[in-house]
Amino acid sequence: MANVIVIGAQWGDEGKGKVVDLYAREAELIVRFQGGNNAGHTLVVGGKKTILHLIPSGILHKGKTCVLGNGMVINPRVLLEEIDKLKEEHLFADDTNLFISERAHVIMPYHIEIDGARENKWGCMKIGTTGRGIGPAYEDKASRVGLRMADLINETVFREKLRHNLEEKNFLLTRFFGMNGISEDAVFDEYSRYAERLRPYITDTSKIIEEKICHGRHGLFEGAQGTHLDIDYGTYPFVTASATIAGNACTGSGIGPTKIDGVVGICKAYTTRVGQGPFVTELFDEVGERIQKTGQEFGATTGRKRRCGWLDMVMVKQSVRLSGITGLAVTKLDVLTGINPIRICVGYRCGGETFRDYVPSDLSRFKDIEPVYEELEGWSDPIESARSIGDLTSQSRRYIERLELLAGVPVNLISVGPGRDDTIILRSPFS
Ligand code: IMP
Repeated sequence: MANVIVIGAQWGDEGKGKVVDLYAREAELIVRFQGGNNAGHTLVVGGKKTILHLIPSGILHKGKTCVLGNGMVINPRVLLEEIDKLKEEHLFADDTNLFISERAHVIMPYHIEIDGARENKWGCMKIGTTGRGIGPAYEDKASRVGLRMADLINETVFREKLRHNLEEKNFLLTRFFGMNGISEDAVFDEYSRYAERLRPYITDTSKIIEEKICHGRHGLFEGAQGTHLDIDYGTYPFVTASATIAGNACTGSGIGPTKIDGVVGICKAYTTRVGQGPFVTELFDEVGERIQKTGQEFGATTGRKRRCGWLDMVMVKQSVRLSGITGLAVTKLDVLTGINPIRICVGYRCGGETFRDYVPSDLSRFKDIEPVYEELEGWSDPIESARSIGDLTSQSRRYIERLELLAGVPVNLISVGPGRDDTIILRSPFS
């Protein structure tokens, strides 16, 4: 039995969905431990694209236990839409395979309204959030006024907490943001309908996870977003509202750190970012445009064009340190085909110093950062059909070797296309 955490080593959108889907073949239990429907995991199975925002990607394998952990914030409407769509497409047949933590927080309509209103008001200071109410929902969790899944299915508690919250939120919406208030009865009726449909899935998921683990099954803990969007260690304030590093897999699912056997960091062969915030290796030229187009770099949740740049190993090294990454999964290597030379950022030059494994926490320092690049020879022959390391071109192999050396951890998997089969598997994280 082994329990493995999968997290993003960059700013999210590294291709976690595909990797989790692949690893889910070996695991019996797949757990999402943070975030909400700000995430969008794209999977291509048999040429068919599925985008999941809340349900762990393991759902596409029959008989797997999928858990939405206590560290998540869940929009019940979006979750039900996702369940319905999966059912319509015959991708989710057995309701007893899905569990929702009674401690997970509920995203309410006022969270979404406040998220949008704040972004509008802040103008050039905005974060560039996904507008899904994530930040305000986590704020309520920390303020201890949030509604949890257990509250949603208790009519009396739900009504009381909703009333209490709306008193404050409607004041904020109408008096501070100049918007319309939200009707208590309308929200109560709508959310009560969601509660009835979600009730069978809501339980103490920490116990379910422990039972599976005790029965010697492999467990997979699926992170959302990426290390540099972490609330503490990301490029604050241009971050998401939860902890995205591996440590939170334990807190967000209710298991102890002694149960974890390995951490896989997903790293795209280049870097992308959506939303505002510093990006040292960002490209504003035709190479950046080419990566954006070839890599189809549009947000799976908001459809926004992603900003693109060279692979930044300073960031990746920091991710290896913060999450104790034991192996990397490198995705979208095929997107770099035809680009020559290829650059890798191996340091940040800043105020007479060079950092090689440290991303400054003080954002004002980013103004003066100069990336230190290494240049590697590119390749022009296609690599999509490579299924073993020997099938790669010598230049693309060298790129992977250099990446491994700089990261200080081995590469477990290389993805050379969107499909399940477009993958080179070097070692299993469960062994
Ligand atoms: P929020 O999570 O919606 O509050 O957005 C905060 C920041 O995180 C914004 O820059 C978003 O673009 C970014 N973000 C949130 N979720 C994702 C994701 O799944 N992939 C990439 N960026 C994300």
